[in-house]
Amino acid sequence: MKKNILFTSLLVLFGSMNAQTTKHIPQLGKDKIEDVIAAMTQEEKVYLLMGLGENNWTNPATGPKTVIIAGEAGLTWAIPRLGITPTVLTDGPAGLRIDPHPEGLNFTRFCTAFPTATALASTWNTELVENVGKAMGNEVLEYGSDVLLAPAINIHRNPLSGRNFEYYSEDPIIAGKMGAAMVRGVQSNGVGTSLKHFVANNIETNRKTINAVISQRALREIYLRGFEIVVKESQPWTVMTSYNRLNGFYTSENPDLTSTILRNEWKFEGLVMTDWWAGADAVAQVNAGNDLLMPGCYQREELLNALKHKLISEKALDQNLARVLKFILRTPRFKGYAYSNKPDLASHIQVSKNAASEGMVLLKNDKNTLPFKNIKSVALFGKTSYRYIAGGTGSGEVNYEYANTINESFEKNGYKVSKPLEAIYKNFIDTVTKTATKDNKKFIVDFHAELPLSKEQIGAQVKNTNVAIITIGRNGGEGWERKLTEFNLTDTEKQLIRNVSEAYHAANKKVIVVLNVGGVIATADWREYPDAILLAWQTGQEGANALVDILNGKVNPSGKLPMSFPMVYSDVPSAKTFPGEPADNPVNAIYKEGIYVGYRYYDTFKVPTAYEFGFGLSYTQFEYSNIQLSSKDFNTGMTVKMTVKNTGKSSGKETVELYLHAPGVEIEKPVQELKGFAKTRVLKPGESQEVTFTLDARALASFRTDLSSWVADKGTYEVRIGASSKDIRLTSEFSLPETIIVEKVHPVLYPNLPVTDLTLSAK
Ligand code: BGC
Repeated sequence: MKKNILFTSLLVLFGSMNAQTTKHIPQLGKDKIEDVIAAMTQEEKVYLLMGLGENNWTNPATGPKTVIIAGEAGLTWAIPRLGITPTVLTDGPAGLRIDPHPEGLNFTRFCTAFPTATALASTWNTELVENVGKAMGNEVLEYGSDVLLAPAINIHRNPLSGRNFEYYSEDPIIAGKMGAAMVRGVQSNGVGTSLKHFVANNIETNRKTINAVISQRALREIYLRGFEIVVKESQPWTVMTSYNRLNGFYTSENPDLTSTILRNEWKFEGLVMTDWWAGADAVAQVNAGNDLLMPGCYQREELLNALKHKLISEKALDQNLARVLKFILRTPRFKGYAYSNKPDLASHIQVSKNAASEGMVLLKNDKNTLPFKNIKSVALFGKTSYRYIAGGTGSGEVNYEYANTINESFEKNGYKVSKPLEAIYKNFIDTVTKTATKDNKKFIVDFHAELPLSKEQIGAQVKNTNVAIITIGRNGGEGWERKLTEFNLTDTEKQLIRNVSEAYHAANKKVIVVLNVGGVIATADWREYPDAILLAWQTGQEGANALVDILNGKVNPSGKLPMSFPMVYSDVPSAKTFPGEPADNPVNAIYKEGIYVGYRYYDTFKVPTAYEFGFGLSYTQFEYSNIQLSSKDFNTGMTVKMTVKNTGKSSGKETVELYLHAPGVEIEKPVQELKGFAKTRVLKPGESQEVTFTLDARALASFRTDLSSWVADKGTYEVRIGASSKDIRLTSEFSLPETIIVEKVHPVLYPNLPVTDLTLSAK
């Protein structure tokens, strides 16, 4: 009897426990991630591996997609029964890109257009870039997004590449340091970033299929290096793989990238997502550890089928799902953050303006033409003087409320702007705009040919104005390359510069050319005409105001070039192979220049440039002195100190660049490589600042393909401190007594086609 009672009560207990387990549905955030995954149906698992599809996508299982923030780039799935909230992913690199006035909203949702990445890199100021990131992140958070799809840090390999304006530099250290600062800034708001496009997305032609063939050395030293720096320094919440193939495989499908390099070697802890509609094989993407396929949905049947037939490894599936859930747990939306729709736009305008004025680069300033002296009236030539180009097109665009134009900014600052000239251009712009279609309305003026002016029209301006400013504008964007005809100035533009210069010089008045461009353009064949050239870049919605502050001397320019300006396009090391082969419809792009990208090429092969990497003028002068190395022999690290003194007459900031000339014992090396940079605070005339750089063993090392290792060769190293890559002001030496294998890595990413890198010996 007793036994029976015991048995019966045990049954009741088990029965009730059983009833309890079936009743309890694990909840994200409360229960273990493994339990949440275990509670998912196959269909739910598949949804969580993908985004929610493009706008208006109708999912056979769930009906039409819902939009959370109009203009968002993508969403992840919600599974309410498991406590899984959706997340919102939004572009992009120059600020948040959402729809400012969607239907049904009774207020506007404008975002701040910050300077493009290229302009930000030209500040050489990581603190400033971090502040821009903080401001961008505040807009991400307060408009209800969870992730900013930025920064984009691909290398400026060729000036025609359509998306260069979204990217920072031809140098991986700059790209990496700027990207790391941006990630820190954005993520300090408790929202995520997506470091993109991993990797070698340097070509827009056939961008979704093109195969970049790159040697392992060039990959490690140039194309992967920036990503490595950002991941190790700032741990972005997410990384976005690129569209292109690399050495035979889509980057989004290659575990050598997503697992071996990113997670195993670099210890990346976050989520990997694909670029939108990238790659060809969803199953390969999941198996490669690409956790989230974007925009998603169209892969549903393929993935369900793959799960059914066990084509997706269980390990990959569980790991990917766990990473998606860990990501969701971090998001403001999961945490129930009540966003205000009121980011601090007023203060962001100031952040944007400061960044704009620090990113502009003074390329020429004969006889101290700038800053203005006794200038009261200006003649503004060029259509772009009346329509400032704040940023490029595509996913890097920002929907801002206004962008001041140069003529407006001059007037706001109390200058007289020639009205007859303004009328000529406004009339031209109106005529051009009238021909616009719905699709090209926003940018038709940017892409339209310049208005030719007669000598009489130009001559008529001279008497009534103190100075001539000619703005040359260029826009470009995602999905196509810039043409060589856009790199070069047109005959109309060159004639305008020549004729305006002749007319104004005859009256003893100065001419300034302003370049409102997204990327490198030709300068060598016209630069002799004007007295000054200011590279304004595309500097966001406050660019024109920042520009006037520089011209009138309120701000002393301190930007320097994060890339080289060649004499002619054909001097670019990838000019012959860009975009790829066959030229009219490329399948492969063989990166034959190897590690010799940008200044690494021009300096080593002694090819003159129009303006070298790291170049930029100031209204004051700086003296460099007192270089001190912490020791004569390199042990585990080296500190380099020096002093910068403002010896001129106005206050200003200076960028100091540290290059290293390393001994090429076993392999050839570029004649010098940037290993550090620093921006001083504002130094008053006579003021000095000590600047400190640190070099670790990795800074001495090059990648040895035969050893799959970063190796620092023994020998003498020369530290070069410069105001540009050519203007080296201080040098000192140290030696490395023994060769060091600094780091051994996996021998992955073999080129699938023969690629013989350019070398000096095979020149
Ligand atoms: C771009 C990405 C962007 C994504 C979402 C793609 O076409 O390459 O950079 O983040 O679209 O808009």
